[in-house]
Order: sequence, then structure tokens, then C-alpha cells
Amino acid sequence: MSNNTKLHEIMSVNNNGSSVFASKVGAILAAAGSAVGLGNIWRFPTETGANGGAAFILIYVFFMAVIGVPIMVTEFAIGRHGGKDVMHSFEKMSGGRKGWRWMGLLPVVAGFLVLSYYAVVAGWTLFYAVVAGVDGFDGMTSADFASDFELLSTDPLLPILWLATIIILTVGVVALGVQKGIERGAKIMMPLLFIFVAILVVCSLTLPGATKGLEFLFKPDFSQVTGATALSAMGQAFFSLSVGICCLCTYACYFRKDVNLIQDGVQVATIDTLVALMAGLVIFPAVYSIPGMEPDAGPSLVFVTLPNVFQRVFGDIPLLAYLFSLVFYLLLVMAALTSSISMLEMSASYFHEELRVSRPVAASLVGMVCIVLGSVCSLSFGVWSDVTVFGLGFFDLFDFLVAKLLMPLGSLAMCIFVGWVVDESKVREELTNGGTVNTRIYPVYLFLVRYVAPVGILLIFINELWG
Ligand code: PHE
Repeated sequence: MSNNTKLHEIMSVNNNGSSVFASKVGAILAAAGSAVGLGNIWRFPTETGANGGAAFILIYVFFMAVIGVPIMVTEFAIGRHGGKDVMHSFEKMSGGRKGWRWMGLLPVVAGFLVLSYYAVVAGWTLFYAVVAGVDGFDGMTSADFASDFELLSTDPLLPILWLATIIILTVGVVALGVQKGIERGAKIMMPLLFIFVAILVVCSLTLPGATKGLEFLFKPDFSQVTGATALSAMGQAFFSLSVGICCLCTYACYFRKDVNLIQDGVQVATIDTLVALMAGLVIFPAVYSIPGMEPDAGPSLVFVTLPNVFQRVFGDIPLLAYLFSLVFYLLLVMAALTSSISMLEMSASYFHEELRVSRPVAASLVGMVCIVLGSVCSLSFGVWSDVTVFGLGFFDLFDFLVAKLLMPLGSLAMCIFVGWVVDESKVREELTNGGTVNTRIYPVYLFLVRYVAPVGILLIFINELWG
């Protein structure tokens, strides 16, 4: 074996014998791939639209910086310290306090739940990408867009086939492993995604509604801000960064020892916010170019308002309407896939690392269960729409459990764990790479994670549950 190959092999497994991301760029892109998802392109514009635009964005960025990034970095530290899987990481970081090991079940459970309902929306986007590809939107009236989306989302079979396709693609990537699957997938899809969104921004800014769209995005009107706006901004920051359910902790188990965790966290959050803002720059100028369209159309924004707007706004040049829609939905599919990969990995890595099941079998098993659970979520839009648990249909129930219960509670537990339980020297060691980096910013991190983040999270949690 040549020296080079040997070196490569040493670099691609860590001290526990598990895989690692081969490059620092790969580690950042994989984490950014998890963060950048439907949350940026679908949920962010909707939330911004519903909460009055720029003022919401400023508050969102603030929470991202003082709460989102510290929790992300905390997840990185726990994961990388263990280097195998989340269960092992909590145990090792706690210094052998066995009870904390069970925190490792959080990503396993949350992974099943989040992938199951996320795949429903991801499946719709894949269907729309295919329809856009065969020029199926051409000639549709505004009313057609609304009724077609209703038909798709309530159909008993069609959305299930599409969500299963998304999950099978996801299983394929995860089964290939950390370097050949997850890292390579992120390295291909993230740059493409960036190029696609940049092309769409340029096109959108030439539209007649551009000035109004820009004003909406960048001119803050603080009279619109209430307590509820602030709290939605915090909720959006959590979901968008994928923090709180140990998803990034799972990926951090595969980070090399020389990755600068604080710098990585800041970079991932910056990429995530940039893509969300760029998605806003695509959507709002387009929406404002058609008289009578409103940006706060709720979740149907992406599946009813936008395809309609794209047809109207480029009405004179059908080729442009075709290309714009196609690139937009492909962008959504890629964003959804890089996130769904991280969701499947959350559960699959447990079966692979802890229960010693091979990676392809672990990924397939998790995928199969998610297809079944996802079908249940999909049916809750149609034939099972009157079946409810605690007053919520299955899709909404899964979303509630993940975004409103597990994310805040998981984040709180991690802040307490790292801020108050763990031997502080271990945290310092991870975040400063043994005293070589970040030594000045580290005390700021510690303050945020001990005091600011837990108080902020308690506030969202109380508001989300009883507000
Ligand atoms: N952050 C992803 C998005 O914006 C969603 C996600 C949540 C991904 C939780 C992984 C874990 O779409």
C-alpha cells in the first residue's frame, strides 16, 4: 500500500474506527446541506410574509446569532468529542454518567418523526419538478393551480409514491456511507443549489415588482413587531439550523479533530441565512409583479401562488416561464434531499453503530418505516383528515412533536448538559482545539450557552405550548 493510500485510510477513520468526513469543506457542506432545506425556501418566506418582512428578518438573524449558533456549536462539540454516534458521545462527554447516554435516543426518535412528514412536502416538490420538466404548467389558470394542488395533496396514492421516491433516493445516499454518500452528495448538490438560487435571484430582480419586493425584505417596519413575531423568529431559526434534535451532533461525530467548530457553526449559519434571503429575493419580487398577489399566502405559497406567478410574469416568453419553474422546483428538491439525508442518518447511524447492523440494511430499515409513517402523514391531508390525536392530524402532530416539543426541549437539555454538567475543560478542549483556536471567543460562547440560550428557549417553549 502506498504511503498516500495509507494516510488517506488513517484520515478517513477516527480513533473509534468510525468514518469521518474526508475534508473540512465536506464537513461544512454536509452540515450546511442539513440546515439549508425546505425551511429556507418554503417556511422562511412564508413566515417573513406573515410577520411583516424586514423587521422579522432582523430579529431572526439576532436569535440565530445569540441562540441558534451557540446550540449548533454545542452539538458539534458533543458529537466530535465522542466520534462514534450520539449515544456514545453523550456518555463520553458526561465522564461516564450513564443516564446522559439516553439522550442519544433523541435523534433516533426525532429522525423517524421529522423525515416522515418532511418527505411528504419533499415528495410534492419532486412531483412539481417533474410537472415543470414536462411543461405541465403551461396554459393553467389561477384556479387550476389551486385545485390541482388540492387534488394532489388529498390523493390517497400519488403523494405516497412521490414521498417513497424521495426516501428511496435518501436511503441510496446514506447507504453509500459518510464519505461516498453524504459528503459527496453535499459536495455536488450544495454548489448546484447555490448556482440555481443565484440565477433565479438575477432573473427575479429584473421583474417589475423588484423594488417593492426589496423594500418588503429590507425596509424594517417595527410597528409590526409583537412578542409573537419575536418568538416565531426564534422558532424559525431553530428549524432552519436543524438544531435541538442532535442532527448536527450526528454529523459532528464524523468531523475531523482539526475542524474549527465555532468557525464552522458561524459559516453554516451564514450560508443558511444567505440562502433564505436569496429565496426571499426570488419570491417577493415575483409575487409583487402581479397585481393582487399577496406574499402571505401561507404554505400554499410554494405550490399554488408561485407556479401561478411564474406563468403570469413570464407569460410573453413561455421558455422563460418553463425554465424558471423548472430550476425553482429542482432547487427545492435538492434542498430537501440534503436535509432528508441528514434526517435519515440520525436514526440509521444508531442502528449501524450501536446495534452493529450494516449501513445499507440500517438505512433501508429506517427508510421503510419512514415510508409507512410518511404515508400516514400524507393521508392526513385526504382520506384521514378527520382522524386526530390531541386535536391534530398526523402531519401536524409530527410537526408539533419535532418543531415545538423536541427541538426546544433537546436544545435546553444540551445547554444544561454542556453549560452546567460536563467538566468545563472538555468543552474548552473541543471548542478551542486544545487551546489553539477561538480562545478569545470561547468565554462569549460559554456565557451564551449557560445563560442566554436556556432563558430564550424557555420563553419560546412556554409561548409555543401555551401562547
Ligand atoms: N433545517 C432543515 C430545513 O431548513 C430542516 C431540518 C430539521 C433538517 C431538522 C434536519 C433536522 O429545511
